[in-house]
Amino acid sequence: MSTEKKEHVVSFFDPAYQPVSVEEDELLSEVLDATNSPLLFGCRTGICGTCVIEVEGELPPADDDEKELLEIYAPGNPNARLACQIELTSSIRVRPLNFD
Ligand code: FES
Repeated sequence: MSTEKKEHVVSFFDPAYQPVSVEEDELLSEVLDATNSPLLFGCRTGICGTCVIEVEGELPPADDDEKELLEIYAPGNPNARLACQIELTSSIRVRPLNFD
């Protein structure tokens, strides 16, 4: 059995930002804070809405708390997620929604 951690790539719609590799047990917010990324974080607990993003790619579904907040900050956008709450299971492409 391999003990290698899976790595996923987070790339950005804005080509000015380089893709970032994230290991499966790392927090996306911590990895992006340490790199040059267009995503901003506030509370990191799924409350403030600062980290609302649009996602292209596969992710586990949002839980009820995340869905509730997304109905406020990104109503009607089926691709919106909270970057501080997502668990990466594959590579994705993202853009911030709050600061377009
Ligand atoms: S940082 Fe506040 S909801 Fe994600």
